[in-house]
Amino acid sequence: MARSPLKGVEDSRPGGFACMSDPKQPPHGDGAEREALSALDDGKTTRREFVGTAVVGGALLATGLLSLPANAKGSAKAPGLEGPPVAPVPLRLQINGKEHALEVEPRVTLLDALRENLGLTGSKKGCDLGQCGACTVLVEGRRVNSCLTLAVMQQGKQITTIEGLAQGDALHPMQQSFLAHDGFQCGYCTPGQIMSAVGFSREPWGQTDADIREGMCGNICRCGAYPHIVAAVRDGRGKKA
Ligand code: FES
Ligand code: FES
Repeated sequence: MARSPLKGVEDSRPGGFACMSDPKQPPHGDGAEREALSALDDGKTTRREFVGTAVVGGALLATGLLSLPANAKGSAKAPGLEGPPVAPVPLRLQINGKEHALEVEPRVTLLDALRENLGLTGSKKGCDLGQCGACTVLVEGRRVNSCLTLAVMQQGKQITTIEGLAQGDALHPMQQSFLAHDGFQCGYCTPGQIMSAVGFSREPWGQTDADIREGMCGNICRCGAYPHIVAAVRDGRGKKA
């Protein structure tokens, strides 16, 4: 039985991606995000609590947003957020080579900013808890669970979503490989799988299928298309975009 990325959670589907206890490369996020994941994994902190803590404890200070006026214009309340509304703040995000200006509450995740504010719905919301990888995007070329990072923390960074992979009508080689190998069934996990595969291909993993399975272990496929996904990643990883 394969282990899921979360402690104590077993993935019983045949062929699921196995996560070893000491991965060679963190599958998602930087040190701060891994700390956040650890905090969530201990079962004592909910994502919403973490997000609130991050905003109060560091994100606002780090980004200088505390000096913004409390009456900034924008939506009164972001979708899915509990509690009283928080004053929106203006942001500029570099997404797929284009700058986007938006105003969101500082507690809004990158995933919600992409989907709800910018209409970039290719990144999927599966668990909204950092467990499934459906929301994977690249930030500065590295894989990140966009449901586990705040939009305000991503200003000035180059963000790539599934919408930014193709060049006009020419699909990215990893997209072509997923098509060629039937690397999907319902397709819900597919954008996250492809984005993770692109990031994985840039990381110093070995060449075996076991390396692919371990390197892709943060991405869950409820349809169990793992053998096809492995084949797609194996074939697509060596091809230049
Ligand atoms: S929606 Fe982000 S990891 Fe599941
Ligand atoms: S193809 Fe359906 S969840 Fe992966």
